[in-house]
Amino acid sequence: MDQISIIQPDDWHLHLRDHTALATTVPAAARGFGRGIVMPNLAPPVTTVAEASAYRDRILSYRPAGSNWEPLMVLYLTDNTSTEEIRSAANCGFIYGCKYYPAGATTNSDSGVTDLANIHAVLETMQELGMVLQLHGEVTDTDVDIFDREAVFIDRHLLGLAENFPKLKIVLEHITTRQAADFVTSATDNIAATITPQHLLYNRNHMLAGGIRPHLFCLPILKRNIHQRALLDVATSGNKKFFLGTDSAPHAQEHKESACGCAGCFSHPAAIELYAEVFEQAGALTELEAFASKNGPDFYGLPYNRSSITLRREPWQIPSAVPFNDSQIIPLAGGNSINWRLA
Ligand code: DOR
Ligand code: ZN
Repeated sequence: MDQISIIQPDDWHLHLRDHTALATTVPAAARGFGRGIVMPNLAPPVTTVAEASAYRDRILSYRPAGSNWEPLMVLYLTDNTSTEEIRSAANCGFIYGCKYYPAGATTNSDSGVTDLANIHAVLETMQELGMVLQLHGEVTDTDVDIFDREAVFIDRHLLGLAENFPKLKIVLEHITTRQAADFVTSATDNIAATITPQHLLYNRNHMLAGGIRPHLFCLPILKRNIHQRALLDVATSGNKKFFLGTDSAPHAQEHKESACGCAGCFSHPAAIELYAEVFEQAGALTELEAFASKNGPDFYGLPYNRSSITLRREPWQIPSAVPFNDSQIIPLAGGNSINWRLA
């Protein structure tokens, strides 16, 4: 096969940042995708409908002329989020979920939830309204090894959450472990997961063996190859519970190549092509459309995009750097040659 056409895909998890950063991130997010679930972890975070509306307007002001790409906004849950805010979010027409960051888990998560018990009423309201909960599924306890934080989150928190809110729509985001793949596979249909390109392409050896590669550092962190294998299996299986979410997360080069480097991989310059390469290597290119273009909208209860995209077998080089504010970003797999190219 030298060419494939699929329904235009969507990205069910991404980071755009704000203000002048949007000049880089919005066109990159709109490249190939129809819609994108925009994470609210700004500083300060997007915690109200009014803030989400203003942020959406700033994003749209950077949308390239002629593009129909649509930002799907998300509210950032805190210990103080009210059920009234959830109700107005559900009614506003541009908010598609609420994000749970355990306080301190990752970039700009300091205002996150300190205990799930603090948002019990909020979760009940979300369940009643059919609103999606997007989960950063890691514990933050300092005594839990960073490579175990996702698996421990499932045991300590997610099993109970699923039991207490049996109808709540939950997306376990950017899953990284066999335990997460197994949990979602055997869970009820209201629980799904997104998977990033980096967790399909790489394992922790790629990041750490022979030298530390800060541009592969993201959270949840890359795991062992057995986990990478499990993610490949579920992503390419056709199972409706797994769909595309890049977690594309821009950080300037100097903030990644640093004594305390930031977490996040900027994959948007070649995101759909990287997934295509993964699916082809797994002998499952025919499953790409379900993963990239159908399973997400089906879970969120949205229509498929009406347009389609074409990918051609045409080797090209992913840009080794892209301008970002006064600096630049090194994209995921930047400088590498890739076989598929968006037409
Ligand atoms: O690697 C990550 N980067 N993981 C996250 O959860 C946040 C993200 C970011 O905002 O940079
Ligand atoms: Zn993210």
